[in-house]
Amino acid sequence: MSVPVITIDGPGGSGKGTVSRLLAERLGWSFLDSGALYRLVALAALRRELPLDDADALAELARGLDVRFELDGAGESRTLLDGEVVASELRTEACGEAASRVAAIPAVREALLARQRDFQSPPGLVADGRDMGTVVFPHAPLKIFLTASREERARRRFKQLKEQGLSANLQNLLRELAERDRRDSERAVAPLRPAEDALEVDSTDMGIDAVLTEIVQAARQRG
Ligand code: C5P
Repeated sequence: MSVPVITIDGPGGSGKGTVSRLLAERLGWSFLDSGALYRLVALAALRRELPLDDADALAELARGLDVRFELDGAGESRTLLDGEVVASELRTEACGEAASRVAAIPAVREALLARQRDFQSPPGLVADGRDMGTVVFPHAPLKIFLTASREERARRRFKQLKEQGLSANLQNLLRELAERDRRDSERAVAPLRPAEDALEVDSTDMGIDAVLTEIVQAARQRG
């Protein structure tokens, strides 16, 4: 029996990470943060001082990536890279920027494909990313494309980074988001775009609860 998948794609800062996590929790489904996989490849590459344009070396790294997602004693999720817990360094803009560079390499994307599909387990999966609905889970019964204006997305990132005690500058964030949007949308392989059958939700003036309600309603209609 195939496992139902809800895909949530969109640009950085659209709120899809938070929405996907909450949706998975509410449904009792598994959750795939595909951006974290690209960030982990980037982080492993930076640590090994691999050039971010060495496609062969990066694809090899992605194929052998030693990563585990697990719950700690308090029930909080944590990520281990090469057996060591990684925390805030995965969420920095530098890591996001490096992730978007390695993500433009077709062999890296190919190397991560099976790993992403392995997240499917009953009763269902919520998959968050850029190409979940177009490439990784093209048969998903519900596909969401979540957007927000670039200014609003930069404000959200700023708030998020501050809350995590990280330094942030709004103008720099805006510039970095614009650059990342451009790279993600213009790359030749799996560019950021809505699947033809995706429901587009603009969250610029919506709170997380309103977005979640809209998606749950759509899931009921299609389920
Ligand atoms: O979503 P997040 O900001 O963590 O993603 C980091 C980068 O990874 C994105 O800018 C994008 O380039 C890449 N990515 C991707 N495909 C995905 C998820 C993330 O190319 N499915």
